[in-house]
Amino acid sequence: MRLNKFLSAAGVCSRRKADQLITDGQVEVNGKPVTELGSVIDEKKDVVKVGGREVRLPLSHVYIKLNKPKGYVCSASDDKGRKTIFDLVKTEQRLFSVGRLDYDTEGLILLTNDGEFASRITHPSHMIEKEYVATVVGSMKESEFAVLRKGVVENGNRMPSAKIKPISFDGKVTKVSVIIDEGQNRQVRRMFEAIGREIKLLKRVRIGGVKLGGLKRGEFKDLRAEELSSLMEER
Ligand code: URA
Repeated sequence: MRLNKFLSAAGVCSRRKADQLITDGQVEVNGKPVTELGSVIDEKKDVVKVGGREVRLPLSHVYIKLNKPKGYVCSASDDKGRKTIFDLVKTEQRLFSVGRLDYDTEGLILLTNDGEFASRITHPSHMIEKEYVATVVGSMKESEFAVLRKGVVENGNRMPSAKIKPISFDGKVTKVSVIIDEGQNRQVRRMFEAIGREIKLLKRVRIGGVKLGGLKRGEFKDLRAEELSSLMEER
């Protein structure tokens, strides 16, 4: 197996970042630094270390969907001491999230120990649809939906276009379905901020063929085979 693929599959980082670690001389195989890109290892025999720490492939892969509640961060630890999604999901395997949701955003997040899978799914070239329900203060106009569909202009730059569909208005808030296929930082919130609208609650309800379904806040379960294969096909 190529060394960069091994590092990615072990969850160290993406293949691209692995190449950087390799050229930076931070990767050792059997006690010797390897700096050549394209190096191949025998993953059954060779001992690989990054920054002096041994890296191993997981024995089996785990793929989980979680309904992240508001008020949790998606990193393994938080310098402000806030709760993390790993306080909710206790497993024997060391997991990481596939992409992230903001502290204030709730809904579907995937967790895995398969680094190759995570970096492929999150790579911008894969364009996997992510669907959100945004609860917005007030009644929104069709002209605002049109601007969001085309791509709002933020600081002179046009943000990616989105599929937008109004769901309901109850006299106070409008619920809007927002589908994007990129994953820029705070993308949905920034789109609405750019047109002067406040999002009261943002919830992710679907990633590709995987739906949040009836999962309660804080609940998690293994992906079904069809859910997993739908993502594998899309990647
Ligand atoms: N867009 C946001 O604004 N926040 C998220 O967490 C995800 C998408």
